[in-house]
Parts: sequence; structure tokens; C-alpha cells
Amino acid sequence: MKALGRVLALALLCHGVIAGPSGLPAEQTRAVRSAPRKLHGRFLHITDIHPDEFYKVHSSTDEDGACHRGKGPAGPYGAETSDCDSPFSLVNATFDWIAANLKDTIDFVVWTGDSARHDRDEELPRSADQVLGTNTWIADKFAHLFADEDGTGMTIPVVPNFGNNDILPHNILLPGPNKWFQTYLHIWRHFIPEEQRHSFEFGGWFHVEVIPNKLAVFSLNTLYFFDRNAGVDGCANPGEPGYKQMEWLRVQLQFLRERGMKAILIGHVPPARTESKKLWDETCWQKYTLWMHQFRDVVVVGLYGHMNIDHFLIHDSEEIDIAALSGSSEWGIREAMEDDLSVQGASDYLMELRQHWAKLPPPATFKGEADGVNEDGKRRKGKKRKDPWGERYHLTLVGPSIVPTYFPTLRVFEYNITGLEHVSIWKDIQQGGLQNTTESGLSQKHLELRQFSTEAESQVDLDDITSAKKKKKPKKKPKTPVHDPNLNVPSPPAKGSPPGPAYSPQPLTLLGYTQYFANLTHINNLTLTDATIQEDGEEEGWWDWLLRWRKGKHGGKKPASPYPPRPREFAFEVEYSTFEDRIYQLGDLTVNSLVRLAVRIGERVDNAKNERKGEEEEEVEDEDSDGEIEAGKKKKKRKKGRKGRKGKKRRKRNETWLHFLKHAFVGTLEEEELKKFD
Ligand SMILES: *[C@@H]1O[C@H](CO)[C@@H](O)[C@H](O)[C@H]1NC(C)=O
Ligand SMILES: *[C@@H]1O[C@H](CO)[C@@H](O)[C@H](O)[C@H]1NC(C)=O
Ligand SMILES: *[C@@H]1O[C@H](CO)[C@@H](O)[C@H](O)[C@H]1NC(C)=O
Ligand SMILES: *[C@@H]1O[C@H](CO)[C@@H](O)[C@H](O)[C@H]1NC(C)=O
Ligand SMILES: *[C@@H]1O[C@H](CO)[C@@H](O)[C@H](O)[C@H]1NC(C)=O
Ligand SMILES: *[C@@H]1O[C@H](CO)[C@@H](O)[C@H](O)[C@H]1NC(C)=O
Repeated sequence: MKALGRVLALALLCHGVIAGPSGLPAEQTRAVRSAPRKLHGRFLHITDIHPDEFYKVHSSTDEDGACHRGKGPAGPYGAETSDCDSPFSLVNATFDWIAANLKDTIDFVVWTGDSARHDRDEELPRSADQVLGTNTWIADKFAHLFADEDGTGMTIPVVPNFGNNDILPHNILLPGPNKWFQTYLHIWRHFIPEEQRHSFEFGGWFHVEVIPNKLAVFSLNTLYFFDRNAGVDGCANPGEPGYKQMEWLRVQLQFLRERGMKAILIGHVPPARTESKKLWDETCWQKYTLWMHQFRDVVVVGLYGHMNIDHFLIHDSEEIDIAALSGSSEWGIREAMEDDLSVQGASDYLMELRQHWAKLPPPATFKGEADGVNEDGKRRKGKKRKDPWGERYHLTLVGPSIVPTYFPTLRVFEYNITGLEHVSIWKDIQQGGLQNTTESGLSQKHLELRQFSTEAESQVDLDDITSAKKKKKPKKKPKTPVHDPNLNVPSPPAKGSPPGPAYSPQPLTLLGYTQYFANLTHINNLTLTDATIQEDGEEEGWWDWLLRWRKGKHGGKKPASPYPPRPREFAFEVEYSTFEDRIYQLGDLTVNSLVRLAVRIGERVDNAKNERKGEEEEEVEDEDSDGEIEAGKKKKKRKKGRKGRKGKKRRKRNETWLHFLKHAFVGTLEEEELKKFD
């Protein structure tokens, strides 16, 4: 009941916040005043909150009920592992927990979209008021949570981002300027810097100097890259908002480079792409991959949401195809990924990633295990010494959701602030006036933007959406895809410049993260009885991919008593931390560290053939050690040790994949269930 009490207290605090973060209670202001702010070297990534105002405790989690009606196992803080959205209680409790545990120890927040419920209940179609309503509510919660002492601004920056469910109908966003951008400009008025308003109104993209003159967060409007957005068409044609956004990104990242600054890119829909599936239009993926490679001295990392599964992506600049970049080849190979992946769909996707990782040349800095063995038994060749920092790759980290598709989660990153102890922080600059950070770049920046604006189509009405084309047709291959006059390739890093923070440990390099989760099964404390047709659910688990709607692990069950459930106190707990994870062994989050992990996840040792291969190899290695000149006794001991280590290593490699899968589904699947996906 303590938790509910706290929720209530927060509810009272939040009352009247719609008018802006002013008139704060004394308690709140005191905390702010007492903390002379410096950088903490930490920031929060929160994504896919999906608040649902119609969520009803003890309603049915079946498709017909959708946690809106009927009798069933919908818990007080959400129906974990189901397709239901988040109750307001979960949102309140999450903000409450952040206020109590993170608020004063982070430097900024990245919030990667989808702050409205899904459009999944035919009986309750979404309205613009609802979508904008929950978005306003969440935005105001952030503004309130980080409100400064005089209530006129915020203590730290929060960087929001558009999700595919933050607009109506979902997935469809026409080129700007449009009503959505105007409306969100108001909803996000506390977060979008004055000098970025123009850019935002035009395309829904902007950036924030979260550490003035050091680090900017770029909020990308990924809906213009999203393959399922039938309102736009990729990034190759200069008339498309995707193209314009890429141009904006290119120009801005060049400015940052000239100022010696670094960037974190954030977005909702990640640039996920496997052998058979993709989320972005291919031309956008190609351009992004090229941009990231050219700006590898500037970009720290890309942070995304949308997929709910905890995982990461490694982009390989060797997959850049200039023809595909102009939209003239590589079409129709990959299908657009389903919007909401079932666990089976997700695990198929993850298995494809794994196959890709199995083929990655390991980083050259690999010491002992430089040349791994591929699935087909061939030795993998590392490009030794040529690319010691793994600069052919860049990283995307996909954060799992608040909405309990699995369990609700939060991610707190830590980054290197060595040498940044005395820099001006965001708040100082806010007090000193917003405009003083951009220097000479400003006039040129505005010129560039004005140029984009004049190209803009006139304002489109939302009703036009119905006539938007349904499916893009594959492009015809032009005869000479050699030179594309519309392609402005960004400049590479200056010759001889050192590797950026994504590659070598330095200030702003990501050091690791702590993944928090709330165990709703425990917290909800439901007492349920098995109801009616149990046979149905028995054979197939709730994770079964045939289910169009996932009713969750308690699906079909009913509350045992008519009384309201009595939840335990709500809290997030550590799911894992990359600093301590024994299996991941991530010293930091540089590209080499994650490539090394990916290669380990990719190792396959479970089929009989490779099993045998592995043994053969072991023998060979033992022979090697036999050849060494050593005392017999010592040799034996050493041999034994080797064998032992080998076996352990083999088990560990297998473990790495299962461990990764376990995290992907936020600990909701048991080992036995996970093994089915191997
Ligand atoms: C959540 O907090 C809001 C105030 O922000 C309050 O109006 C609402 O009643 C709370 N909801 C729940 C379920 O606690
Ligand atoms: C703005 O920048 C100029 C030159 O860098 C500096 O002299 C001035 O003090 C700054 N103003 C504020 C309000 O920070
Ligand atoms: C942080 O950066 C400094 C300066 O480049 C470096 O000396 C240090 O090793 C880095 N710290 C970590 C934990 O990587
Ligand atoms: C969550 O809580 C349930 C019930 O207490 C427990 O059985 C389960 O192991 C917990 N899951 C995790 C990942 O901690
Ligand atoms: C869990 O629920 C049971 C049954 O409603 C209740 O008796 C118990 O007090 C609850 N536990 C907590 C910690 O609230
Ligand atoms: C690897 O995993 C598979 C399936 O998860 C399992 O059957 C196999 O026994 C494991 N192998 C080792 C060596 O642990």
C-alpha cells in the first residue's frame, strides 16, 4: 500500500501541471536547490511508455478484452508479457521511482517515443485528443520532474522523439510542415531549444546541446525513414523529407565536427536490418550507414526504441552500396518487418542477427581468439592491424520498453567525463540565455534551413492520408547508377585525426549501462484461478508465434476473489549491468567491445559436426603444447588445465547467446523456453 500512497502523493504533486512546471511544492524545490549541478556522467534512456487511459485492473487480457473490459488477470501495474498497454499507475510509479532514484544523478534524458496507446482495440479506436493527451501528460511529467527552483525552466534537458504511435493514423506521417509538428512544438516546448524550433516545425527533427559545446543529442524523425510510412518514400529523392533530414544531419554533424563536438543520435524506429527483414527504407539505411561511417569521429552511438526487445545492431560500412543508396538496386530483397513482433518473430529476427554476427571478422585487437571458426568450419580472417579500432562498424543500441510486452524497463548509461569536470552545463547556459552557444555556425545554419523551407510542399491536410499510396513499388534500375548528382557524400574525418569516442576510450565514450526492470509478476501480487478452457493455452506457451494477440503469461485466468488486488510496493531492480555481467564481459561500450561480444554470441557450438570439429581442434592444440619443452609433470598439468579451459569456453560461448536472448526478453522467459529458440 506504500506504493499506492506514493503514487497518490505524486498524483497530488502533478496536479495542475498542464499549465507548465510552475508553482512547485516546497519539498520539490528544496531538493533542486541543494544540488549544485555538475556532470554526473550518467543519463537515462526511456522508451515506449504507451500509457492507456482505458486500462482496467482485473479486466481480460484476451484480444476481445484488451485490458479494457471483461474479467481476467490484468494486474494493477500492467499485464506483463501481453499485448496490453500501460496503466497510468505504471507510468506514475515509474516517474515516482525516477524521482526517488535517478533524478539528481543524471545529466540528461533521452525519450524515444510512443507515448500513446496502440491502436489495437477495435471497440476503442484512437482519437487525436487521446494520442496528444497522453503525450501531453508524459511531457508535462518530465517538465515537472526536472523543474528548476523558480519554475521557469528545467534542471536538465530531456530530448523527446516521435514514435510511430504518436500520430494518427499510426505509421503514417506526411512531409512537414504539418499540424502534428505544430502541436508537438507546443507539447514539447520545454524540450526543443529556441533555435531549433524552425527545424522542428519543418521536419520534426532537432538537436539539443546537452553538454554545451561538447555533446549534442540529435532527435531524428525516424518516421521519414520508416518503411511502413506510406506517406513518404525514402531518402534518395531530394523532394522527400527523408532526403532533407539526411542533408540536415550531414550539415549539422559537419558543424559539430568543426566545433570539436560529439553527437548521440536518437530515434524511435531503429535501423534494424537482417538478411530477410528491415525496418527502414533501404535508401535511408544506406545513407545512414554512409553518414555514420563518414562521421565516425563525431557520433558516439545511436539509441533507439520501438522493438521492445533489448538488443544491439552492428552496422558494417562494407555493406554500403552506392547504387542502392540512390534507390537503384537492392530492392525487394528484404521484407518490411511486422510492426509488433511476437516472441517467435523476435527470436527469428535475433537469430538472423546472430547468423550475421557469426560471419563478422573479429576486431583486430583480439588477442588470443583472433581467428574464430565459422559455421562451415573455415577459419575467419581478421583484418589484423589494418582497422585496430573497428572503424568499419558503428553501433545502434535498442532499449527495451516501459510497456510490459515483457517487463517494464529503464536503462541508465554511464559515459566518460574525464576532463569535463569544469565545463559549463546545460543549465548554466539556459540561465545565461539560450542563444550563446552556436557562434559562427548560426547564420549558416539558418540559411540552410531556409533553403529547405522554400522547397517544402504546402501544408497538407490530415484527410489526405486516406489517399496516400499503400505500398511502394520496387524502383526500376536505371541504366547508369554511377553518379548521383543528389548524393552529397559527407567529408570523412580529417587525415590523421584520432578515432572518435565510439572507438577508443576518451571523454564521452560510453562506459556501460545498468538495465533496470520491474517484476510485475511479483509486484502485482495477483491471486488467480485457472478459468474455463485451459486445454487451449496448455500446449502452446503464451509466447507462441501463431497467436495474433498475446494474452500474456496469465492469459485466460481469472481473479480468485472479487476484491481488488493488493500489489506489493512498486520498484525497479537491476536486471543486469554491463559493468558486472560476467558473461558479457564488456569493459566499455566501444565498437570493438560490442563486436567482440557479437562474435561470441554468433559462435555456434551446439551441432554435432562443430562439436566434433571443436574436439579435433582441441587435440591439435594439445599436440602443440606437447611440443613445448617442459617437464613431464608440468606438461600434464598444463594440458589438463587447457582441456578444462576449453570445455568451459565452449560452454560459455553457448551461454552467451542464451544470456543475450534472456536479456532480449527482459528475463520473462525461462531457460527451457529460451533453448527452443536456439
Ligand atoms: C497518476 O497521476 C495522475 C497525476 O499526474 C493522477 O491524475 C492519476 O490519478 C494517477 N493515476 C493513477 C492510476 O495513480
Ligand atoms: C556570449 O558569448 C560571448 C563571446 O563568446 C561572451 O563574451 C559572453 O559573455 C556570452 N554571453 C553570455 C550571456 O553567456
Ligand atoms: C576516460 O577518458 C580518459 C581520457 O581520455 C582516459 O584516460 C580514461 O581511461 C577513460 N576512462 C575509462 C574508464 O575508459
Ligand atoms: C519475477 O517474480 C516471480 C514471482 O515472484 C518470480 O517467480 C520470477 O522468477 C521473477 N522473475 C525475475 C526475472 O526475477
Ligand atoms: C498479496 O495479496 C494477498 C491476497 O490479496 C494479500 O493477502 C497480501 O497481503 C498481499 N501482499 C502484500 C505484500 O501486499
Ligand atoms: C548449447 O545450447 C543448446 C540449446 O540451447 C543445448 O542443447 C546444448 O546442450 C548446449 N551446448 C553446450 C555445450 O552447452
